[in-house]
Amino acid sequence: MIEKKFAGKVALITGAASGIGKATAVMLAEQGASLFLSDVNGVLLSQTGEELTATGANVVTKVFSVAEAEQCRAAVQEATDRYGRLDLLCNIAGFAKAKHLADITDIDWQTMMDVNLSGVFYMSQAAMPHLIESQGCIVNMASSAGLQGQAYNAMYCASKAGVVMLSKSMAMEFAKKGVRVNAVCPGAVATPLMMNFDLPHEADMDLISKLFPLMPAAEPEEVAAAVVYLGSPEARYITGIAMPIDGGQTCG
Ligand SMILES: NC(=O)c1ccc[n+]([C@@H]2O[C@H](COP(=O)([O-])OP(=O)(O)OC[C@H]3O[C@@H](n4cnc5c(N)ncnc54)[C@H](O)[C@@H]3O)[C@@H](O)[C@H]2O)c1
Repeated sequence: MIEKKFAGKVALITGAASGIGKATAVMLAEQGASLFLSDVNGVLLSQTGEELTATGANVVTKVFSVAEAEQCRAAVQEATDRYGRLDLLCNIAGFAKAKHLADITDIDWQTMMDVNLSGVFYMSQAAMPHLIESQGCIVNMASSAGLQGQAYNAMYCASKAGVVMLSKSMAMEFAKKGVRVNAVCPGAVATPLMMNFDLPHEADMDLISKLFPLMPAAEPEEVAAAVVYLGSPEARYITGIAMPIDGGQTCG
């Protein structure tokens, strides 16, 4: 019998109700991980939890917003109380919103930073002592938008560039303590986030070419496979990278 790569391991995934987070949960369950799944969307999260439990996976679900520091800390505590350990944190929750710079409100800006960037920080800080104990790792969902500027995407680009550098900084600080931290930088992925992505009114089409990859969009499973690889023992010597999976969007 082939041994499952995550047998006996525990993974906490944010944004697990949909898209890349859900695909990651499915793959980690197939590889034997026990899962603590979270999302702000309770309806879809329950569905994901039920689907995975029906396959025999160990699954706990928790509805909360990663923008709330106390809730992030409580979730990590609940996961480690429930399972007794934490081996892998996948910070995948996030959202996108394109706007002309002049139209970005203070609330738009703050919400984007709270969810896409601060959420990664809150979860990682709370999880780190447990990951040091288990010699585990973190995989953060950044974006090609964290690697290059994109017109009308200033908020999102800034938040995802923050995720890239937060990941690299944590990788440096914790390498000697045995915790790896990596970021994944997808381009276009066929999920609700991309399907609902609207360009702002009167967008200058000459400026937005960088939003589009050279190749058709990826499926969420293609990105989840990279998350699972980076979270696995096979990636033992990889830390501090920001891996583009973007159909050539950022290669030029
Ligand atoms: N789809 C793409 O083209 C693409 C490209 C690059 C990066 N990403 C990133 O991938 C990640 C996953 O997105 P996706 O494409 O799977 O989209 P998705 O909309 O299918 O999934 C995102 C999930 O995050 C959850 N979420 C949003 N705000 C939250 C909050 N405050 N607290 C907890 N959960 C919250 C949503 O409810 C949703 O279930 C995001 O961080 C996104 O920025 C997506």
